[in-house]
Amino acid sequence: MGSTLAFTLATNGVCSEIVLKDIRENFVKAMALDISQASNASKSHTVVKAALTSKDLENSNIVVVTAGIARKPGMSRNDLLSTNAKIMKSVMLEIKENCPDAIIIVVSNPLDAMVYSALKFSNFSNTQVVGMAGILDSARMSHYILEKLGYGAGQIESSVMGGHGDDMVPLPNHSTVAGVCIENLLNETQIDEIVQKTKNGGLEIVKLLETGSAYYAPAYATSLMVEAILNNQKRIYPCAVMLNGEYGYENIVSGVPVMLGSKGVEKIIQLNLTQNQKLAFDKSVSSVRELTNIIDKEFF
Ligand code: 2OP
Repeated sequence: MGSTLAFTLATNGVCSEIVLKDIRENFVKAMALDISQASNASKSHTVVKAALTSKDLENSNIVVVTAGIARKPGMSRNDLLSTNAKIMKSVMLEIKENCPDAIIIVVSNPLDAMVYSALKFSNFSNTQVVGMAGILDSARMSHYILEKLGYGAGQIESSVMGGHGDDMVPLPNHSTVAGVCIENLLNETQIDEIVQKTKNGGLEIVKLLETGSAYYAPAYATSLMVEAILNNQKRIYPCAVMLNGEYGYENIVSGVPVMLGSKGVEKIIQLNLTQNQKLAFDKSVSSVRELTNIIDKEFF
């Protein structure tokens, strides 16, 4: 996913320099060469290099953390918790030492618990660390709306809140096709099917691939976040952030609409949720809390 993101950013000329880091030295060198050559083919100004030591992270404005093992069929995102938390610890300590002012975008799974871990291991501020999931989950919802409707490609705006897990909270009443709420276009059974498919969107790909999880849509979603932060676009995207009283929660990470700009998470937006949506959000937060309790016990 990291290399697909680098390819997307480089060929679109989103940043001036991309440094790729991985524990597999030859692999990361190969990726950097290949993506740099793609960047040259596209006549982009983006320079792409492999980082051979942590020092190469110095002066980064943004660090995207994709490190960790990915799901295989039969595994839930939560099965990755312990292994990926250890990896997150070492990555965050390297970041803290070399680019303590960078904005951190976390993509590793289980996403919300990894954003929480990244914050706790680094002591960075809540505005500095943000997780990618909501844009991906919303894009998946748009895909399933398109599949069901058969029209509307490129005009669908979907909204998903909550954790990036089985309890995520798709919001049909905030999802539209060219501004028309999908509740005007589809019946309840059809919408329920879309909600269920959205929740299983990642799993559907894991099952088909057998060797790993999705990367094109996660990478593209992350590239939008990088662009919003680098160019101070102040865009509103659903992202995983530490809540500090918003939605009635403290010291827990969940997916909510936020404003992304050069300072990272510049604003958290509070939607009015229906009673059922509030209950679903509470359930999703509780699932993440179970994981963060394990992190707290194991590491702090
Ligand atoms: C996904 O949903 C990898 O969590 C990521 O595809």
